[in-house]
Amino acid sequence: MRLAVVGIGHVGLVHAACMASIGHDVLGVDEDAAKVEVILAGSTPFVEPGVTELVRAELASGRLQISTQVADAVRGRDIVFVCVGTPTRPTGEPDLSQVERVAQTLAEAIDDYVVITEKSTVPVGTGEAIRRVIEARAPAGAEFDIASNPEFLQEGTAVRDTLEPTRIVIGSTSERARALLRDAYGPIIEQTGCPVIETDIETAELVKHSSNAFLATKISFINQVAEICEQTGADVETIAYAMGLDPRIGSRFLSAGIGYGGECLPKDVQAYRYTAESYGVAFPLLHAVDQVNSERRARFLERVQEAVGDLAGARLAVWGLAFKAGTDDLRRSPAMDVAERLLQAGAHVRAFDPAAMTDAATLLPDLVMAIDPYDAAEGADAVVICTEWPEFAEVDLERLRRVVSRPVIVDGRNLFEPADVAAAGFSYLSMGRPTVSGWDDATA
Ligand code: UGA
Repeated sequence: MRLAVVGIGHVGLVHAACMASIGHDVLGVDEDAAKVEVILAGSTPFVEPGVTELVRAELASGRLQISTQVADAVRGRDIVFVCVGTPTRPTGEPDLSQVERVAQTLAEAIDDYVVITEKSTVPVGTGEAIRRVIEARAPAGAEFDIASNPEFLQEGTAVRDTLEPTRIVIGSTSERARALLRDAYGPIIEQTGCPVIETDIETAELVKHSSNAFLATKISFINQVAEICEQTGADVETIAYAMGLDPRIGSRFLSAGIGYGGECLPKDVQAYRYTAESYGVAFPLLHAVDQVNSERRARFLERVQEAVGDLAGARLAVWGLAFKAGTDDLRRSPAMDVAERLLQAGAHVRAFDPAAMTDAATLLPDLVMAIDPYDAAEGADAVVICTEWPEFAEVDLERLRRVVSRPVIVDGRNLFEPADVAAAGFSYLSMGRPTVSGWDDATA
């Protein structure tokens, strides 16, 4: 089939390359000429395992083409997937200006039947809004349908999530559009047997916001439980494990930490709440989820302070800057927020992140960047772990003990077994677990 993807950021580029890899002829377009140039030069403007290789291979095969001409996305294509950004305004209101602009450009170029499919996360009602824009702008007699086909990929496992999805949701009242989308995903459906949910546009739109809001709710829930644990001496990891064994609850997304970040969960919780209210439905649960998430960072800073006494003048190693492991993405990163607040409090921070240091250095020029975790920890009063990179869990604790000034670890991601860290002579403060100390002078 002939497909197009408008907006070749993290979601769009992965989608375009994966659809090409299952045999479609795919045109990826983005008005950002610099981004297009980077991709055509064989690179990828973000860190995502497997994508650079896949994009290179699909460009070489000729199944994937990349251009800056948005109008080209509609000409002679069966389906156009719209994957442009949908940021939120400070009020939480979703900013749909990019979606609307793309819809106008596509509308004017429609020359044959095409399914305009929203893939970006958008509030319920956006599909209808796109239909109105296209009806107003398209040439007389233009044939098109609108569909919603939300994306559920996670950064870090984007290619696998696209080629082996947990479900495919197709929202459209047009059988013709639904049949085309089913065909587009045919090889994936055949190969994986994943469930396909066919529904109306509004339901598909709400599946996406509800899924992300629910994931955020799980995280805030366990973070709130972690706080009770911190006051009572209980262990949040054991609680999460025991809860997760109940298949009605499930074990994933119950890792206590410093709160969720990234481009999706924080924005979607706010946008969903705003949208619900705009339809006259209060959603106080989402307000609480958001609030618990922001407060978690403040609580973490208190733990750092507990460990080092005064933050002003403290020498701290910050391990991890990306919003989660496996990515260089710093958007709404709790780790960056923590690093910034530590700097503001007068701490001297040496940071290390396996992927995100270049961008972090631009955003926080006062951060001193280290070459590895040990270098960051040289002479530190405490090591502060902010991102769950697996390599941090694999550090040699004996070696670390030799380079720090005080053997103290404040772990915002519960990467270690407390007993192991104490046995290596550290004082260890983690999230929702009792503090342990293999060093007498831990809080001196
Ligand atoms: C999220 C969703 O998980 C995807 O299903 C969705 O498709 C995507 O948003 C999107 O809307 O595009 P992503 O933004 O890649 O994916 O991030 P997650 O893996 O969900 O992690 C979000 C944050 O939650 C990270 O900061 C992570 O460290 C944190 N987290 C995650 C926890 O603190 N605890 C957990 O148990 C899980």
